[in-house]
Amino acid sequence: MEKVLDIQNLHATFTIQKKDYEVLHDISFSINRNETVCVVGESGCGKSVTTLCIMQLLPNNGKIQSGKIVLDGTDLTQVNRKEIRKYRGKKMGMIFQEPMTALNPLLTIGYQMRESIMLHRGLKKKEANELAISYLQKVGIANPESRLKQYPFQLSGGLRQRILIAMVLSVQPDLLIADEPTTALDVTIQKQVLTLLNDLKKDMNAGILFITHDLGVVAEIADRVVVLYAGRKVEEGTTEQIFKNPKHPYTIGLMNAVPNVDLDEFEIRPIPGTFPNITEDIPGCRFNPRCPRAHECPLCVKEAPETVEVEPGHLVACHLAK
Ligand SMILES: Nc1ncnc2c1ncn2[C@@H]1O[C@H](COP(=O)(O)OP(=O)(O)OP(=O)(O)O)[C@@H](O)[C@H]1O
Ligand SMILES: [Mg+2]
Repeated sequence: MEKVLDIQNLHATFTIQKKDYEVLHDISFSINRNETVCVVGESGCGKSVTTLCIMQLLPNNGKIQSGKIVLDGTDLTQVNRKEIRKYRGKKMGMIFQEPMTALNPLLTIGYQMRESIMLHRGLKKKEANELAISYLQKVGIANPESRLKQYPFQLSGGLRQRILIAMVLSVQPDLLIADEPTTALDVTIQKQVLTLLNDLKKDMNAGILFITHDLGVVAEIADRVVVLYAGRKVEEGTTEQIFKNPKHPYTIGLMNAVPNVDLDEFEIRPIPGTFPNITEDIPGCRFNPRCPRAHECPLCVKEAPETVEVEPGHLVACHLAK
């Protein structure tokens, strides 16, 4: 299997009042072609920061301290700010929660799509227009010619998101990064967008990095899952391994928090305890203050756990997993 993205031992910090705090600690995972990897975890665990590291779009007080982010053989951490623009859009496309942040309100959809296709695929205006139409059709948009003449504000949120997906895909990136792309959409449109991404993954032979905190969405779209807790990878495995055989107490807690529809249970149970912020120093495993099993092993409060492979492809960073 060919790796599209390979993140190796990534460490990143934010500087807050002249002090550096680690926001990502030793994060490693990879994405193959024709594979969707979901990164999950509570708010603040570092999902968006991970995508910003990949895109080299960290805010000014953020810094990658060490590690590699290899996209199609190139380590992006070694590419300078100017050069990185060539990778963004062309090799990696990004879809955000709010499509308006990526669309220019003053320009028609057609203008924006053509410009992007002309720039990244080196086509003339007429060919670019035809390609734009075909991609709008791919994402299920009726009357694409008339949509091209419209401005973003004339379209609903769901349509804008689909147009943005069409725009990102028309460039044929090797990697598609989607950070909560369906959160702002209503449930029916959300389903459509997920189905669309699933179909297109196969068509394009691309890798997809999908960020969400909705485990229902994960079950639907992911081939593999990476679970983050407070900037650490605590577990990684196939979707089946993570859902059917979670090993880390945090992952087990996340799974228990999902309402059991079969039992007519809709209330989501939060995991007890509070999530640490990046300035908090927690000795041992970062999860130990909330872990129901931390009392079983003295190491939990003393040493950070190493990552072990509990079955092929299933990695867990927990002292109790050994
Ligand atoms: N510019 C910044 N300066 C300092 N800390 C920051 C900055 N941006 C983000 N953080 C912190 O980094 C941590 C990770 O943030 P991140 O946005 O990646 O979380 P997330 O997992 O995407 O959460 P959510 O589910 O809410 O989107 C959080 O603790 C956040 O407060
Ligand atoms: Mg986020």
